Amino acid sequence: MKYQGVIFDLDGVLCFTDKYHYKAWKAVADEIGVYFDEQINNRLRGVSRMDSLDIILERSTKSYSAEEKMQLAEKKNDLYRALLADMTPADLSDEVRDTLNALKKAGLKLAIGSSSKNTKFILERIGLNGFFDAISDGTNISRSKPDPQVFTMAAEFIALPPTACLVVEDAEAGIKAAIGGGFDSAGLGEAAACGKATYAMHSFKDLLGICL
Ligand code: BG6
Ligand code: MG
Repeated sequence: MKYQGVIFDLDGVLCFTDKYHYKAWKAVADEIGVYFDEQINNRLRGVSRMDSLDIILERSTKSYSAEEKMQLAEKKNDLYRALLADMTPADLSDEVRDTLNALKKAGLKLAIGSSSKNTKFILERIGLNGFFDAISDGTNISRSKPDPQVFTMAAEFIALPPTACLVVEDAEAGIKAAIGGGFDSAGLGEAAACGKATYAMHSFKDLLGICL
C-alpha cells in the first residue's frame, strides 16, 4: 500500500458543520451589527475560532479588546454547540462510514487532524467516538492551519513519518498545512479545486482507489 496512515480533517470532510458555524457566527455578527454572509463564512474553513473572529471583525468599525473577543467567541461556541447537539449518527453518510471501515480493515492507521476544539463532541454525535487510532485537534495545538502542527502531531500520535501518511482536506489552508508538513494530500471541494493537493477527489470513496 502506498500509505500506512490517513489523517482526516473533520469539518467538511467527515461531516458538514458549515451551516452550523454560519448560523452561530451570523447571530453574533448581527448582534454587534457587523455584516456577515456565506462568502465570508467560506473564508473560515479550516481556520481556528479566534482567527475566524478576526476575519469577521475586519468589517467592524469598532475595535474590540482581547476580553471582548473572548466573550464573542464564547457566545458563538455556545450557540454552535447547541446546534451540534441536534446531530446524530444519521449525519454520517453511508459513503463515509463504509470507506472508513474499508480503510481500517485494510490495516491503515486512521487519525483526525482538525482545528476544532469541538472534535470529540462532534465525533460522539455522529457515532465515531473511539473509532480513530488518534485525535489531533484544536485542543493540542498552538498554531492553526495553514501551519502543519495539527497534522505533524497526528502523525506522531500514530507513530508514522509524514511521508507514510495521506492528509484528507476540504480547505486550501489544510492543503497548505499538509504541504508544509511534508504530507501527500487528497482534496475535496475547494481543496480539490485549488490545484495544490496531490490528489483531487470528486467523492470521499475515491480514497479507496488512492490508498488500497
Ligand atoms: C475547523 C472549521 O474545522 O474548526 C473552522 O473548518 C472552525 O471553520 C475551526 O473555525 C474551529 O472550530 P471550533 O469548533 O474549535 O470553534
Ligand atoms: Mg475542513
